[in-house]
Amino acid sequence: MIKNIPTIAHQTYYVGVNDREKHLFENLWPLESGIAYNSYLINDKKTALIDTVDSNAIDEFLQKIQMILNGRPLDYLIINHMEPDHCSGITHIKRLYPNVEIVGNKKTFEFLNAFYGVTDNLYEVKEGDELQLGDRSLKFIFAPMVHWPEVMMAYDTKEHTLFSADAFGCFGTLDGGITDEQLNMDYYWEDFIRYYSNVVGKFGGPVQKVLCKCALLSIKTIAATHGPIWKSAENIKKILGLYDKWSKYETEPGVVICFGSMYGRTEAMAEAIARSLSENGVKNIRIFDVSKTHASYIIKEIFKYKGLIVGSSTYNSGLHPNVESLMLKLKNMNIKNHYFGVFGSFSWSGEATKNLYDICQQMNWDIVAPAIKQKGAIDDLIHDECVSLAEIMAKKVL
Ligand code: FEO
Repeated sequence: MIKNIPTIAHQTYYVGVNDREKHLFENLWPLESGIAYNSYLINDKKTALIDTVDSNAIDEFLQKIQMILNGRPLDYLIINHMEPDHCSGITHIKRLYPNVEIVGNKKTFEFLNAFYGVTDNLYEVKEGDELQLGDRSLKFIFAPMVHWPEVMMAYDTKEHTLFSADAFGCFGTLDGGITDEQLNMDYYWEDFIRYYSNVVGKFGGPVQKVLCKCALLSIKTIAATHGPIWKSAENIKKILGLYDKWSKYETEPGVVICFGSMYGRTEAMAEAIARSLSENGVKNIRIFDVSKTHASYIIKEIFKYKGLIVGSSTYNSGLHPNVESLMLKLKNMNIKNHYFGVFGSFSWSGEATKNLYDICQQMNWDIVAPAIKQKGAIDDLIHDECVSLAEIMAKKVL
């Protein structure tokens, strides 16, 4: 039985749900701590639901809405984002409240038709339009490509709540509390950057544009579609600052070394490079074996640090498949503003380092030294090259 549905602002109820079953977000990114699909119901003179939830938690979601409305009609369903983790409840809501008007933009309605064939009771809004709900109105702020083209935010002009869609979201369920003031945020900060880097990280330019729009608002609460609701003024300032920094691809002094190694020879080169980085004053050094650590966590660290050194053994005359997969993800995300180094070992053909180097060049990455290519076990000459790469990289990142 559902009781005690919390509010995040006056007449603004949290009707989101936790998902502790799903293993991968977007069927890609690990959810060790689960995820929350956040949705909000404003119960003013007019009633408005902001986004829905993933299909696996519809019953709980609908129960909460019916409980709050207690027989009142639902006037509006605001669709800030059409990715199915938020829009799966639309047809359920329409069945329960057949007269509900669906509020979105032109792009939203293209998706709505394509996904569900819904073309009626649509209320189209444009950038800056306001929807009156009573004493308050919702003002719409478009945020295209944060993280899909139809994304918009809704700003409550009276309560100063920004319903921000995916922006400022976070992996992790909301256990008991729902706001940053109720939760121990130590549990969330690492997943906050992992969420940004994995989900939103590709879209630095669009994030910059929407941050400029946010700067014109007085914000008391940020209510994203995932993760804690941000109430603390200190945290709101912090997350706006972090998004500004990350979307400009600004990084800290430090180096991520990731490698694919079948029998340990490429890994030995990674160790030699890391040792020399340390001797040259670099403290933030993170080494990852791509066969063990999911790319989600490696990408998170790459977003933090200025240097990236990638190593690959040659596998079937090409890259180690897990290195190749990581490189494709980095290419897809259009990672910028890093220094790069490349190394690898082989037994009988040795294409991996050239392939890595070519990918780096295609992406216009700043490669700090020639690729280091080793046949068999690491020897003195190759060790010296590893030391030299580390010395150059240390100078670049510090
Ligand atoms: Fe949580 Fe872009 O969806």
